[in-house]
Amino acid sequence: MITLHDLGDVRRCCDDVRRSGGRVGLVPTMGFFHEGHRSLMRTARVADDLVVVSVFVNPTQFGPGEDLGGYPRDPDGDAAMADAAGVDVLFAPGVEAMYPDGARTTVHVERLTSRLCGASRPTHFDGVATVVTKLFSIVGPCHAYFGRKDAQQLAVVRRLVDDLNLPVEVVGCPLVRDADGLALSSRNAYLDETERRAALVLVRALRDAAHAVHAGERDALVLRDRARAMIGAEPAVRLDYAELVDARTVEPITRVDGAAVLAVAAVVGRARLIDNLAITVTPSGVETDLGAVAEEQRA
Ligand code: PAF
Repeated sequence: MITLHDLGDVRRCCDDVRRSGGRVGLVPTMGFFHEGHRSLMRTARVADDLVVVSVFVNPTQFGPGEDLGGYPRDPDGDAAMADAAGVDVLFAPGVEAMYPDGARTTVHVERLTSRLCGASRPTHFDGVATVVTKLFSIVGPCHAYFGRKDAQQLAVVRRLVDDLNLPVEVVGCPLVRDADGLALSSRNAYLDETERRAALVLVRALRDAAHAVHAGERDALVLRDRARAMIGAEPAVRLDYAELVDARTVEPITRVDGAAVLAVAAVVGRARLIDNLAITVTPSGVETDLGAVAEEQRA
């Protein structure tokens, strides 16, 4: 594995592989890897000839008073994990390289960004959409791997790729959970033991919704309100939202039909956590997806 900091070096490296007929896979991250990141890297390793993992704690997706300064970082641990996962290029640009003084362009995806996390973090998705577009532009035609835990982010990235005709195939990958059920997130590092136990109410509420859907419940408001009530009953957890939305448009729905997501966000201690249940209802049946349990944990 090589580590590159220079945007031009990454572009050349990707161009060289494509010129000789190879495929490029990009895993965009903000570092502090966990099994969720590693599963993206493994998926890319199987599908692509050159696997590029970007590590960039993107300042423009953090709002004032958010955790940019304290965001967990472990460059050496990340490099060791990426190397072990068979990554070819670790791309770790500096803030100055990504946002040279005078940068004036922002990518804004209408509508999909106004609800859920976009309502609580009004500048967040502009930051995400802008940095992801820049990464796609640097790396060029590729498969780009994103976890389904960030269901709204995935919908936003798919939309911007379509709208801007970017030569990128977005691959959504399974949400990964710890053995106790908590969705893996770099921000779980903020939780103490008591907070972590309290945070498990999120997955309990989603499991409850999955059971209800399999038992035949299709009323989105009933499902949403059950989740709100369960999470709201946990005193150490401040619910931000629990909404049932269309998976592609992120618009609220009243009946579950087609591909939907029950998305939840809550603040526990210092950590803002998100989680979701994917629900697909078709004439041939119903499927719910809570993700997979991690095989290994961070040492
Ligand atoms: O999901 C993340 O880690 C970030 O939002 C991303 C996609 C790397 C953009 O900074």
